[in-house]
Amino acid sequence: MRNFDYQTPTRLVFGEGVVEKLPKIMQPFGKKILLTYGGGSIKKIGLYDKVKELLKGFEVFELSGIEPNPKYSTSVVEGVKICKDKGIDVILAVGGGSVLDCSKAIAAGAKYEGETWDLISYKAFAKDALPIVDILTLAATGSEYDCGGVISRTETNDKIGYMDPHLFPVCSILDPRYTFSVSKKQTAAGCADAMNHVMEQYFVEDTTILNDGFCEAEFKSLMYNTKIALENPEDYRARAELMLDCTYGCNGILSLGNSESGWPCHAIEHALSAYYDITHGEGLAIITPRWMKHILSERTMDRFVKYGVNVFGIDATLEKQEIAEKAIEETYKFFESIGIPMHLRDVGIDESRVAEMAHHIAVNEGLENAYVPLDEAAIAKIIMDSL
Ligand code: NZQ
Ligand code: ZN
Repeated sequence: MRNFDYQTPTRLVFGEGVVEKLPKIMQPFGKKILLTYGGGSIKKIGLYDKVKELLKGFEVFELSGIEPNPKYSTSVVEGVKICKDKGIDVILAVGGGSVLDCSKAIAAGAKYEGETWDLISYKAFAKDALPIVDILTLAATGSEYDCGGVISRTETNDKIGYMDPHLFPVCSILDPRYTFSVSKKQTAAGCADAMNHVMEQYFVEDTTILNDGFCEAEFKSLMYNTKIALENPEDYRARAELMLDCTYGCNGILSLGNSESGWPCHAIEHALSAYYDITHGEGLAIITPRWMKHILSERTMDRFVKYGVNVFGIDATLEKQEIAEKAIEETYKFFESIGIPMHLRDVGIDESRVAEMAHHIAVNEGLENAYVPLDEAAIAKIIMDSL
């Protein structure tokens, strides 16, 4: 078992009505708040008005319009400028993963004298960051419980996963009711994202019974509750369990002691959404079964057999190869059943830039160290198979 040094300092405040605690949660961090949000969904669900009312005693500045796949040159740069100009004490991010991620980059940039991109691209390391509190409105990324942010720089086709221990939110407020309004498309994409976060931790060389159990329970809970939430978007129980599935899915707690994974599907998908601005979870759902087919071999067989038997209930007495192939097929069928388009062409990607993307991934993502190493040709083949 691999050594680890683990800490998640984020306070989770979960449940119906917990947003009422907001003033008390914000109070220790200062008076000047930067409220960050996206394209307006928080106004439609009444959360914006609620937050403004709760923050009456504070001085609130705003950064709105944060894009899905948040962009460095617009949102991050603007947010950092507001923080520096106004002497912001704390950021309150209200929204999905994109708003949270963007706010993390802003929090780091606000305390850094140079260009924030130096931090995101690991040319420099943050010594400090503004505290971040968030109110999550979309179950997917796990950004509410990790120290990562994923930022796109369209000019250079970069989409970088930036991690820094300063960027754990100090507190995440999780009220599942604020996810009732999430569309079917984003609910399914969120599920696919979290499913893949767990797969990236499950499909590795060395695991434990404990971690496999955590991961298998995650898969089952995500699949079961997503189906319910798609049928009845206001099913509190399903939305609540999905929210926790996603929160636990990405901060490493499911795979402490496991060997390294390399997160290959994420490495590939981040390039797809950097080049084509597609929805992250949809890109992952499309890539995942093709990647699985690519890595299935004698060496990886037992992982797929365990996954197939324990997650999909495939007959354990069948030949291993058959179980593994059925497991991959079931994965594909599940994503298809929740309405995800299962070909890259369906989301506007054709073969024209596959070679360029494969090169970009091979140079920047270090997939030669993945569970099953992927070179440029292998990456290109997985993308071509996904078209
Ligand atoms: O912008 P608004 O109007 O808020 O609308 C958003 C957006 O259009 C909407 N939405 C959010 N909450 C809603 C809602 N619509 C109705 N009701 C609500 N309650 O949903 C759309 C998508 O939002 P976004 O935040 O982009 O989605 P998600 O949470 O899936 O975040 C995706 C981003 O996170 C990154 C992805 O790469 C992508 O850029 N990731 C971040 C990770 C992390 N920090 O650890 C890990 C992930 O692997 C991922 O890479
Ligand atoms: Zn993801």
